[in-house]
Order: sequence, then C-alpha cells, then structure tokens
Amino acid sequence: MTAAELPETRAGEEPEAVETTMPEPGDDPLVAMVAWLAVDPLDPPLGVLATVDPDGTPRCRHLLISGVTPDGPTFHTDSRSQKVVDLAANPRATLVVLSSDRTRQLTMTGPASPTDHDEQLRTYRDRTPYLKLLAWTNTPATAALPPSARRQVWAEAVARHGPTPQDPPDTWTGYRLRPETVTFWRGEPDAPSHRRRFHLRPGGWLAEDLPG
Ligand SMILES: Cc1cc2nc3c(=O)[nH]c(=O)nc-3n(C[C@H](O)[C@H](O)[C@H](O)COP(=O)(O)O)c2cc1C
Repeated sequence: MTAAELPETRAGEEPEAVETTMPEPGDDPLVAMVAWLAVDPLDPPLGVLATVDPDGTPRCRHLLISGVTPDGPTFHTDSRSQKVVDLAANPRATLVVLSSDRTRQLTMTGPASPTDHDEQLRTYRDRTPYLKLLAWTNTPATAALPPSARRQVWAEAVARHGPTPQDPPDTWTGYRLRPETVTFWRGEPDAPSHRRRFHLRPGGWLAEDLPG
C-alpha cells in the first residue's frame, strides 16, 4: 500500500486495519506513520508538540492529535496561544507520540501550517461537548479567575451557546505538520530497542538506523 492509497483517518473514526510494524528501508514511512498514529481512534492520541519561540527558547506541551493523513498529523488550538506565536515566527515543529503501552514512539519533524476552514470546522464538530465548551471558555481573561468565577464563566457559556456549541469561537484554529523526517522507535522485550529515521530527500525517503 502506498501513502496515496491510504484512507484519511481522523479521531473518532475506525481506521482500516494496518500493521504497526517497523517500516523497511524503501517503504513509504507515511503509510506506517498513519498506522502507528491510528492505533486507538476512539481515544485521540496525545502527543508532545515542540516549537521554538521568537527568542530561540524551545517550548513543548501535550496536545491531542486530531487526525492524520499521509500529508501529516493535525492538531487544533487557540490562535492566541504561544504555540501559534512560535509557529508564526518559525513554522518548523516536532511532534512526538508515545503508544499507550510504551512500546512505540513516533517522532515527526517538519513545517506546520494552518489547515483550511472546512477542516477546522469539521474537527471542532467532532470534539466532545466538554472540549467544545473549553474552546469557548479557555481564554486569557478567564485564566487568572478564582475557581468559583471560572465555573460561572462555564455556566454562562452553556447558557449562551448550549451544552454542545455547534460552531467554534473565532480563535479556534488547526495546523498540519508535514513531516520531513519521521523516526520510528520500537521497544523489544528480548533485544535492544530499534530506531529507524526516514529523511525526505529529493529522490524519496532515505532510511537510517540509529541506537537508542
Ligand atoms: C491531556 C491534555 C490534552 C491537551 N490537548 C490540547 C489540545 O488538543 N490543544 C491545545 O491547544 N492544548 C491542549 N492541551 C493544553 C496544552 O498542553 C497547553 O497547555 C496549551 O495548549 C497552551 O500551550 P502554549 O501556551 O504553549 O501554546 C492539552 C493538555 C493536556 C494535559
């Protein structure tokens, strides 16, 4: 199977069953990337997104991987967040995802750019009611409020938008990271762990085996 033949897998959808084995040199690593990220689609994978701020300081934070296609994984956030400031100054990012059983780690590096409006809207509508309301209420203004005032903000949002707001706030945004390197790490119970990195080169993907 090539990356182009893969169906789009988004959080909450059943993927086609694809093996999560280590891709071989010569394989398309984006096929394995989609398979490794889509292990449990009913529970969106959690990843760590690393960016570099305008002063050159690395910053990282956990976030949900909203979906993945062979073009790369997507994540969604608030346009006022630090990560958006960072990506505006330097669009390169790294996303690392650990499987829940800790036997596989996937690291993707490349430029991240905003997805289109339809994709952002579709992903918002796939979110749970809690996460929809969170997008409306998790603002700079509420950040410093005491717990009782934060609950009041939440109650007012429910009263204004309903328990599952249909549309996102203007600050809702999404990004896709387009991998230029993909690193697969696999733990083994009776052998050294195995790490293989694929680099995107003009002629295709170049594989490199690494310790650690
Ligand atoms: C389990 C978990 C899931 C999270 N999911 C997201 C997410 O999908 N999008 C997001 O913007 N922040 C998410 N966050 C919050 C981020 O970790 C982070 O605090 C926030 O995005 C602000 O980051 P920034 O100021 O570096 O941009 C999540 C945090 C946790 C602990």
